[in-house]
This record gives sequence, C-alpha cells and structure tokens, in this order.
Amino acid sequence: MSGLVNSPEAYFGQFIPPRSRLLAELEKEARQEKIPIVGPLVGELLYILARAVQADRILELGTAAGYSTVFLAGALASSRGRVVTVEQDPAMAQSARANFQKAGLSGRIEVVVGNAPAVLSTMAGPFDFAFLDIEKADYAVVLPDCRRLLRPGGMLVADNVAFQDADAFNRMIFNSAKWRSVNLFGYLPGHSPVQDGLCLAVRV
Ligand SMILES: C[S@@+](CC[C@H](N)C(=O)[O-])C[C@H]1O[C@@H](n2cnc3c(N)ncnc32)[C@H](O)[C@@H]1O
Repeated sequence: MSGLVNSPEAYFGQFIPPRSRLLAELEKEARQEKIPIVGPLVGELLYILARAVQADRILELGTAAGYSTVFLAGALASSRGRVVTVEQDPAMAQSARANFQKAGLSGRIEVVVGNAPAVLSTMAGPFDFAFLDIEKADYAVVLPDCRRLLRPGGMLVADNVAFQDADAFNRMIFNSAKWRSVNLFGYLPGHSPVQDGLCLAVRV
C-alpha cells in the first residue's frame, strides 16, 4: 500500500470546484466585508448532498448574502422545488434577495427575516434537507424543530461544529436515537475557517 500524499493541504488545495462569476463575486464581497461563508468546497458538498437526496424542499438557517443558498437552489430536484432561508439581519436579507435576483433564482428562494428559533416554531414541513449555519449556540435550540420539519430520511447538515459553542448540539445529536449522524473534521479550502467540523445527519 502506498503512503499518504505529501503536504495534503497543498495537494487537496488543487481540487477546488470551479464556480460561476456570481459565486466568485460573492466570495470577493465576503472577503471584503468579512462575511464568513462556506466557500466553494462546502458549497459543492451541499449541492452534492442535496442532489443525492433529491431535495425539493430545502431549509437553510443563516443566509448572510446568499452564497450557500445559491448552491442549494442549484440542487433542487424539480422546477417546483424551493429553498426557504432564514436570516435575522434585515440588511443581509436584502443583500441576499438582490443576489438571488441577479442569479435568476428569486422565484425559487424565499428569504424569511427573523430569529431562527422563533421562525421555525411557526413553520410547517416537510423539508427534505436542512442546513444550519447560524450562531452555533442556537444549533441545539433549533434541533427539535429541524426534526419536526424534516421528513423521515431527510438530511441535516450543520456547519462549524468544531466551534466550542456547537458542543451542546454535537452531544445532543450524537446521543439521540432520533438521528444517525457523523461529525467530520477536516481541511476545507475557502471555508471560514479552513479547518473545521461538519455534522452530517439523517432523521430517523
Ligand atoms: C456564517 S453566516 C452564514 C453564511 C452563509 N450560510 C453562507 O455560507 O453564505 C451566519 C448568518 O446567520 C445569521 N444568524 C445568526 N444567528 C441567527 C439566528 N439565530 N437566526 C437567524 N439568523 C441568524 C447571521 O446574521 C449571519 O448572516
């Protein structure tokens, strides 16, 4: 058996998926405005996972300027598919709406302005896929509603689970029979931060 590649970060740094001009512009804006985004690798991962579960109803918590939302909307399984994305900052939500307009995606994405735990408690499902990217301490708070809103077999992805504030969420989902989950820690080029954890889970 051969050994591992030398300098894995430099090696895997070669394999960053190509993306559209709009996404490249949003990455530039994110760097300038210091908006923490998932970046091209995790964006493509979201696309692949949402495609794999043939998601037609996608829930996102934490829109910012809509970078990750564009990947999710691109993965919708049918022309009737929709992404509902929740953002607490009205100015961010406005900027995301403008970006969706530019991308020709306005008809496929609903931006809900509000605090995710409050918004979710009034929402009805079912969703096929949920992506969490809000304040990490809120992940544990929204987990029961995410389960209620996801269909059985629906997928949940949580970003930044290597942050200390995600500890309650990590323990809650790992110890629950209501979910099958894995936590992955790795090198994620273009992600904020480049070394971080992701939780992938299926609603039992
Ligand atoms: C890390 S950024 C999201 C980045 C985005 N998912 C991307 O990759 O392009 C987190 C966003 O979540 C919003 N946010 C944080 N806590 C929230 C909450 N409890 N409810 C709604 N939005 C929240 C912040 O205002 C911020 O815009």
